[in-house]
Amino acid sequence: MTYEPKMGRSMQGVVTGFHDKTIYQVYPKSFCDSDGDGVGDLRGITRKVPYIASLGVDMVWLNPFFVSPQRDNGYDIANYYRVNPALGSMDDFEELVAALRAHGIGVMLDMVLNHTSTQHEWFQRALAGETEYRDFYYIRPATSGLPNNWVSKFGGPAWAPFTGNSASLGITDADAARNGFTRNPAGDDSGDPTLYYLHLYDVTQADLNWHNPRVRNELAKVVRFWQNKGVQGFRFDVINVIGKPEDLPSALRGTDDKRLYTDTPIVEQYIKELAAASFGRDPESVTVGEMSSTSIERCIAYTNPDNKALSMVFNFHHLKVDYVDGHKWSRKPFDFQELKRLFAQWGVGMERGGGWNALFWNNHDQPRALNRFGDPRGYRVESATMLATAIHMMRGTPFVYMGEEIGMTDPEYASMDDYVDIEAINAYRELVATGTSTQEAFAIVHSKARDNARTPMQWDDSAHAGFTTGTPWLRPTNQSMINVAAEEASGKILPYYRALIVLRKKYAVISEGSYEPYAEDHPRVLAFTRTFGNDRLLVLANFYGEETMIQIPPEFVGGSIVIANYEDRKAVATNRVVMRPYEAITIWQR
Ligand code: GLC
Repeated sequence: MTYEPKMGRSMQGVVTGFHDKTIYQVYPKSFCDSDGDGVGDLRGITRKVPYIASLGVDMVWLNPFFVSPQRDNGYDIANYYRVNPALGSMDDFEELVAALRAHGIGVMLDMVLNHTSTQHEWFQRALAGETEYRDFYYIRPATSGLPNNWVSKFGGPAWAPFTGNSASLGITDADAARNGFTRNPAGDDSGDPTLYYLHLYDVTQADLNWHNPRVRNELAKVVRFWQNKGVQGFRFDVINVIGKPEDLPSALRGTDDKRLYTDTPIVEQYIKELAAASFGRDPESVTVGEMSSTSIERCIAYTNPDNKALSMVFNFHHLKVDYVDGHKWSRKPFDFQELKRLFAQWGVGMERGGGWNALFWNNHDQPRALNRFGDPRGYRVESATMLATAIHMMRGTPFVYMGEEIGMTDPEYASMDDYVDIEAINAYRELVATGTSTQEAFAIVHSKARDNARTPMQWDDSAHAGFTTGTPWLRPTNQSMINVAAEEASGKILPYYRALIVLRKKYAVISEGSYEPYAEDHPRVLAFTRTFGNDRLLVLANFYGEETMIQIPPEFVGGSIVIANYEDRKAVATNRVVMRPYEAITIWQR
């Protein structure tokens, strides 16, 4: 089929360089280990640049690799300016940037600006009594109990005594040596146990006080530092919780605290200010904000180009359709109608407001989508490619999480001993403590743990999946069946991803077209159309392992098949299509 050269600009004439891009996420600890210590590193990633380039992606998002005690796998940063020696050096980083650039691939760094590790110099200086640094965090006295009733997202209260007791927090000298920092120079007796500091995440992740202009300046400096190293992409971790109300009020009901500190009006202002002081000065920068429990209206404000804030946002509503009453640590089959409703609402809503979504099923915090929404045993290839179609054909910028493109699944762990994530371990304890049987608690962790996504990339079928010559920090389980080498030789998922990535570059209707849900009541098929001028696409995705029939609009009958995940699907000749298990079809007409 022929196609006219696509426009690089959106209808409004704004440069939208990221609409036809695909971003690949690499979890550095788990991608490739170059030195045999069992932990992935920057040199390992450099070694795999040819593979990354072969995918056709435009940018690589790297999870944090900065100096950190690794209590939350690098999201607890002790120094924003240095590479954690366990993962490499600044030279290694520069080499990686250059190797990617040689293939036209940019780098996206993970900026964790809501909190620092309690091992960060700022926190340590606060502990040592420097009042100026106390104002970098939320440090408050408690008259009765704790300063307020907020809870940590990783379990327990969101407040901890303001003391330097790193040993009791599980940080040892050995951790410090390995990860390139000196432990608690202020001494374990420093601080003031009558005061408390706020931590919305782990107790070693102290929330930064963004109301303090010095904090905002320091953080903009961090972003500029990495821009000067040639970085043009930034992912901002939990950026919509940076605007806590200054008086830190208690929630009236136990679970309402989130609403008090999420998406407050000042967040937009802070993001704009950060943009103006750093990445916004680079017209080619690509940014994505991680938005927890957010709304369409806020996400439009964060991403409408007129607002000069972010390029796009991650929201997580579609990944909560298998939560019971919004609680992650529970189990139920996904609610397909709710999933469809959310895609439709966000797709249409963001477009109406001129906003832009990041599109994704997987990341380092989510169990593998293939296990949640597909059938990794009966229809692994079909369901993996169907899920990919649904995301890559939508309006937004697709993200592919390492291993997704070869159909990696959750590991088949049989005991809690295999899990290392602090969140999973806390959740298991809390479930059992509140009366859930150990069996059910394990089943829940098994299906929800973040470790599910963090197992090593499976390069080949060898004992450690070609990831390391040492002992992997997290154990892979099914590399004999699922691995890159096998996919390259005769697999169907990897070529399908490559094709989807190329299509987005070729067809303006995919990268720029408007989005409209179709057959909203269909019980099994997610369907939508995309329109750009006279070009139209119809996308159909059967989310079930059974056949199902769907009627299609007459204008698509006889249209060309742009891509389909059953090779024998060459045409759609009538307006009734019988879709096979997990079948996905994209039809084009003009
Ligand atoms: C984000 C990260 C997650 C981390 C948390 C706290 O949600 O994706 O991995 O634990 O922020 O920084």
